[in-house]
Amino acid sequence: QDDQFKKVVSHAKEYGYVFQSSEIYDGLSAVYDYAQNGAELKKNIRDYWWKAVVQMHDNIVGIDSSIFMHPTTWKASGHVDAFNDPLIDNKDSKKRYRADVLIEDYCAKIEGKIDKEVDKAAKRFGDAFNKEEFISTNPRVVGYYDKIKTILSRMAKSLESEDLADVKALIEELEIADPLTGSRNWTEVKQFNLMFGTKLGASAESAMDLYLRPETAQGIFVNFLNVQKTGRMKIPFGIAQTGKAFRNEIVARQFIFRMREFEQMEMQFFIKPGTQKEWFEHWKETRMKWHLSLGMGDENYRFHDHEKLAHYADAATDIEFKFPFGFKELEGIHSRTDFDLKQHEEFSGKKLQYFDHETNESYTPYVLETSIGLDRMFLAVFSNALVEEELDNNTTRTVLKLPAVLAPVKAAILPLVKKDGLPEIARQIMDDLKWDFNVAYDEKDAVGRRYRRQDANGTPFCITVDHDTLEDQTVTIRHRDTMEQTRVKIEDLRDLIKKEVDM
Ligand code: GAP
Repeated sequence: QDDQFKKVVSHAKEYGYVFQSSEIYDGLSAVYDYAQNGAELKKNIRDYWWKAVVQMHDNIVGIDSSIFMHPTTWKASGHVDAFNDPLIDNKDSKKRYRADVLIEDYCAKIEGKIDKEVDKAAKRFGDAFNKEEFISTNPRVVGYYDKIKTILSRMAKSLESEDLADVKALIEELEIADPLTGSRNWTEVKQFNLMFGTKLGASAESAMDLYLRPETAQGIFVNFLNVQKTGRMKIPFGIAQTGKAFRNEIVARQFIFRMREFEQMEMQFFIKPGTQKEWFEHWKETRMKWHLSLGMGDENYRFHDHEKLAHYADAATDIEFKFPFGFKELEGIHSRTDFDLKQHEEFSGKKLQYFDHETNESYTPYVLETSIGLDRMFLAVFSNALVEEELDNNTTRTVLKLPAVLAPVKAAILPLVKKDGLPEIARQIMDDLKWDFNVAYDEKDAVGRRYRRQDANGTPFCITVDHDTLEDQTVTIRHRDTMEQTRVKIEDLRDLIKKEVDM
């Protein structure tokens, strides 16, 4: 499992999908950049969601609200006053959160010490320095790693058993003394809010405290009446949006699974009070169908219904996906009652009600929410697609079996050789196809190697131009997953590809 996850992370880098942010400065923890292929894949996932949720529903519209919002928004939503995850409001989770903060700090500190040892040794040994070997044999470094391992495994155990006595003991232990230096420097427990703060305004005196939004949903709630009126929307109706959200996650160690800057795709569905049970079931089913439509294996999904509910919710479920590190939340479906709209009414002093012309009554709608992380969906798609296949001739190939609709590059055009006019024909095919699809041109190396490169890149089709093409205007089209090759007319290429990659 660990190995598979490592492969996913390194493949994402090697093939231009995901880079660590600011890598030349050693990166920023839990912040990532999407590279040339990653940006395309991410865009295609977003489009696939938008098409299913907005375009295919005449009662759902999409908006794009800003990341900055009036600070009172976050008082109304409950995000300002909540100490940790505002969605779970209880003492135990605060204690756990405190332990997380301490342990994260602690590990970072030890990791800093390890880095120093490595740097020192690298200078001392020069070219002869072997980092792997040094890390696995130097007693100081090994000792540091053991410390980290012990702390993390104890924490994992205590969180698993939900036994807070353990966590408490850990905190006390850490607070008493730093086991490495013996000094007492763990007594100061930081107060963290999950939200990132910033300032709006030029001078220090007049600047207003703002937050970067921790979810896109509030931008929908505050625009509820504007959209309903200008769009002449009748209940039931939905408002959807995709966009960045920011959370100062403390424990963020799983690549793009939990990030500090990430993107959400959310939809709030406004309904008549009393109908929430039916709509909850409806959206559970609809969203699961969306996932299954990508063909990533029905056995890789399951629902996890929440027993403990957040104070505003009367039902909640997660769609979990089997990531390389096990089943984990991918999407949340929440029946949020009228909590959010009522809170915004109270804090803004403005009515946020719906007037039903048929029954002549006004009411505050209930809300059914579907919320999925785009980056997390990216990880699901990417990790599920990466496979190593044994071939008949006892070799292996690495293939990224991305669903064709999501693949960044739909087809690669390959002239068999770099002469005899083949590159010109390949370029011509590319110029024709690029109006409809993202296509690539590749003429380097033997064609077999080029196929492998495109397999690993996730490109569903390779189109090869050879000497027969000069005679009969046909090319070879090779399918990534089956490696099957067929001869087709150049003029049929567009329709053939379209059939597979159209959303
Ligand atoms: N408006 C409801 C809401 O934000 P959530 O369960 O906190 O609910 C919804 O988040 C989804 O957003 C999650 O299911 C997950 O896919 C994604 N998500 C949340 N925090 C994330 C993070 N730190 N990094 C990446 N994705 C995250």
